[in-house]
Amino acid sequence: MADNPTKGLADVVAASTALSDIDGRAGRLFYRGYDIHDLAGHVSFEETAHLLQHGALPTRRQLADYGAELASGRALGALAEGNVAEIAEKQGPMEALRSLVSLAGAEDADKDSNEAAANRRKAARLTAQQPILVARYHAARSGGRAPEPDPARSIAANFLLQITGREPDPRAVEIFDTCLVLHADHTMNASTFAARVCAATLSDMHSAIVAAIGTLKGPLHGGANEQVMRTLESIPADGVARAVRDRLAAGEKIMGFGHRVYKTEDPRATHLRKMSRELAEASGDDTYYRMSKEMEEVVHAEKGLYPNVDFYAATVYHYLGIPTDLFTPVFSVSRMAGWTAHVIEQHADNRLIRPDSEYIGERDQKWAPIDER
Ligand code: ACO
Repeated sequence: MADNPTKGLADVVAASTALSDIDGRAGRLFYRGYDIHDLAGHVSFEETAHLLQHGALPTRRQLADYGAELASGRALGALAEGNVAEIAEKQGPMEALRSLVSLAGAEDADKDSNEAAANRRKAARLTAQQPILVARYHAARSGGRAPEPDPARSIAANFLLQITGREPDPRAVEIFDTCLVLHADHTMNASTFAARVCAATLSDMHSAIVAAIGTLKGPLHGGANEQVMRTLESIPADGVARAVRDRLAAGEKIMGFGHRVYKTEDPRATHLRKMSRELAEASGDDTYYRMSKEMEEVVHAEKGLYPNVDFYAATVYHYLGIPTDLFTPVFSVSRMAGWTAHVIEQHADNRLIRPDSEYIGERDQKWAPIDER
């Protein structure tokens, strides 16, 4: 039987969106018409989240109001707060986030409304709470309590403070903030699509976000950044080319390479490579950066593949002092801005998402009673 040309929904236009756009041949990405190269390093994650959720880059006044909404929305309800320790004992980070967001949804003041204003309030709360959930989870499993977030600081600054327990270097905060901007939205990626499918049944925003978190977890999507770091840790620094060739020869995929849409360099990888290099040099040990560069050269020479967003994000997070198993949760901290904006957009002009399937099973089967089968 011939392969279904739309297997994996490749090239199928599954939704209309005004949130982000990719030119896969030119390697360009836009959020609401703004080139990612213009946004990265120039606007904060909070401005980016406002752009996605509210439709425009904020004025100073709007940013102050949105910042206040984020600060007040950080507080976790009793259910999430009260269960984080037990969940941290029993679940890995992405599973824990899936559970904790579900618990947060049970107590959300707007849980029964899909109206645009209610959805925007929930979007702000989810965006504010996700980094807190990651920090609380990490503290609980480490047997401590994360420092309280400071309402005067950005999401990036508070997150680094809470995760590392140290006052973060201002340049580290800028770099991490840029990482959050770069990961905030990306058209119909698998987790966003999952969120939209859920929202399109007129289910609620928290349910859609739970679906998205479960989808981001997989190593073919957001889970790749953690796998990149595990690969770097598992191969000798002076044996990169050989290890990569051996893995390719064994038919293995090299995590952090390839993309369904980009046929050239992912524009986010351009920024992440530079930041990885800067942090590596500042750390005094650039081994993982040099290994990454070599991996990039070998994979490109052997397979013609380019690094995707996850490849250099791994070493950036590593140099920032973020534990490896929190790399994918960090992705969710950023992508929450995009997921929630997509739910708002889906609910604003909804139609049930229900594709067709190609039947490839038996036909004309004859039924037999159970004792005759
Ligand atoms: N390493 C080695 N070979 C690869 C890789 C890779 N990373 N990616 C693709 N290929 C090869 C495949 O083996 C396949 O070869 P074949 O035609 O000889 O069988 C061909 O390229 C096409 O690959 P598919 O997996 O069919 O491409 P698809 O568009 O379905 O998948 C994906 C895209 C999932 C990103 C893929 O490139 C991959 O698995 N990459 C590794 C995981 C990864 O980094 N995921 C993160 C993606 S970005 C994100 O989600 C945030």
